[in-house]
Amino acid sequence: MSSKRVLITGAAGFLGSHLCDRFIKEGYQVIGMDNLLTGNLENIKHLFPVKEFEYYNHDVSKFVHVSGHLDYILHFASPASPIDYLKMPIQTLKVGSLGTHNLLGLALAKGARLLIASTSEVYGDPLVHPQTEEYWGNVNPIGPRGVYDEAKRFQEAITMAYHRTHGLETRIARIFNTYGPRMRLDDVAHYLLLLARH
Ligand SMILES: NC(=O)c1ccc[n+]([C@@H]2O[C@H](COP(=O)([O-])OP(=O)(O)OC[C@H]3O[C@@H](n4cnc5c(N)ncnc54)[C@H](O)[C@@H]3O)[C@@H](O)[C@H]2O)c1
Repeated sequence: MSSKRVLITGAAGFLGSHLCDRFIKEGYQVIGMDNLLTGNLENIKHLFPVKEFEYYNHDVSKFVHVSGHLDYILHFASPASPIDYLKMPIQTLKVGSLGTHNLLGLALAKGARLLIASTSEVYGDPLVHPQTEEYWGNVNPIGPRGVYDEAKRFQEAITMAYHRTHGLETRIARIFNTYGPRMRLDDVAHYLLLLARH
């Protein structure tokens, strides 16, 4: 039997590139997809000689085609830093909405399980600390940061709709601020400013 095959979107980004490494290490066939909006091929170039790794430069807000079977899809494509999503509001909204819709369709067609990368930003400017999953958040939909928060809230809602309507196997991970190797330096600076303020 062939090994498990996983599609990772946002593969050239900070978190996506580490996921590619990890799944290759675990013996999976990995398809990395990215349009390099905020990512960098430097993060995954060490994987190019690996025969279990394939890379496609593609905008997942457009129709996504992958030939062959797929067991898992990890949707990590999206500008994630406020520096990025404030500069690219429409791409951010599209990848969270149209991109997620495309990947849900692909997951359904392939019988794959889909994990989406959500965020603590779904809580917006929270009135409850720390946030638990019972708390629904406090988001301003028309403020500048709303483009990221609402894209991620829509992403969660449509993912649950596919789960409830089609019985699709889905997972939602609300990631809180994460840092580490391969994070861009301007994002590190932003992160340190945040830490200094709190
Ligand atoms: N880093 C964090 O602290 C954090 C916290 C919460 C959630 N997340 C989520 O995790 C995911 C990855 O975040 P990251 O920190 O690695 O960001 P990143 O900017 O380093 O990586 C995102 C990747 O997605 C790619 N991308 C963006 N739009 C695309 C599109 N339309 N088609 C294909 N590729 C596209 C970018 O080029 C980039 O390589 C995002 O969905 C983000 O919202 C991250």
